[in-house]
Amino acid sequence: MSRKLSLPDGPALGAQAGKLDAPSARRNLEPLLAALAGRLPEEGRALELASGTGQHVVAFARAHPGLHWTPSDVEMARLASIAAWAEEAGLPNLAGPVRLDACTEGWAARRGPVDVLVLVNLLHLISDAEMAALLDEAEQALAPGGVFALYGPFLRGGVATSAGDAAFDASLRAQDPAIGYKDAQDVADVAGALRLTVERVEMPANNLLFLLRKPAQGGV
Ligand SMILES: C[S@@+](CC[C@H](N)C(=O)[O-])C[C@H]1O[C@@H](n2cnc3c(N)ncnc32)[C@H](O)[C@@H]1O
Repeated sequence: MSRKLSLPDGPALGAQAGKLDAPSARRNLEPLLAALAGRLPEEGRALELASGTGQHVVAFARAHPGLHWTPSDVEMARLASIAAWAEEAGLPNLAGPVRLDACTEGWAARRGPVDVLVLVNLLHLISDAEMAALLDEAEQALAPGGVFALYGPFLRGGVATSAGDAAFDASLRAQDPAIGYKDAQDVADVAGALRLTVERVEMPANNLLFLLRKPAQGGV
């Protein structure tokens, strides 16, 4: 399910028809590329959830040419933008986008197994139950040895890391009391219960990148 939320930094139409351009996606792209370098398998299949404008996946595909990338989103306008960015890039390892609701059951069976999953800035926009469903599907979608790179803003010990984060979290909860920033520990707990190993990387602007790894076959 996708909510109609009022968000700061929403995407605007870019220079080329159909291509949306999000300031936040531009800001966090370089830190994300740097953090992902050396942390993803060199080859295999990669699926991005909630790809948004499509800016990120083009850069991910350029930076990781041995991975075959498929972007996805639930909203038709985003899918059109992703298709426009992908078409312009013309990369052999980047497929067109697929429609996928990351919070509903069944996508793992349809889209998996994948060696890499990426999700940037969605968890704070969904409910706890939707997060649990998403992580459950993600675990099912990962091939043995696969990694789920999960980035966003999080609470630490129930507390926002800045006044700006507290205000944004409050504005989300005012729009829908079921959504809002998740606590970093809750993400680690849910991932641990799914037997995913958890690496936590501190990112600029108090954000976190989780690398959730599924043990290789025969591993613990
Ligand atoms: C804040 S944007 C982040 C987009 C992109 N990952 C980025 O960082 O620029 C959230 C995105 O999640 C998508 N979305 C919302 N609910 C979703 C769901 N249930 N499944 C998949 N995508 C969803 C929205 O359409 C939007 O593109």
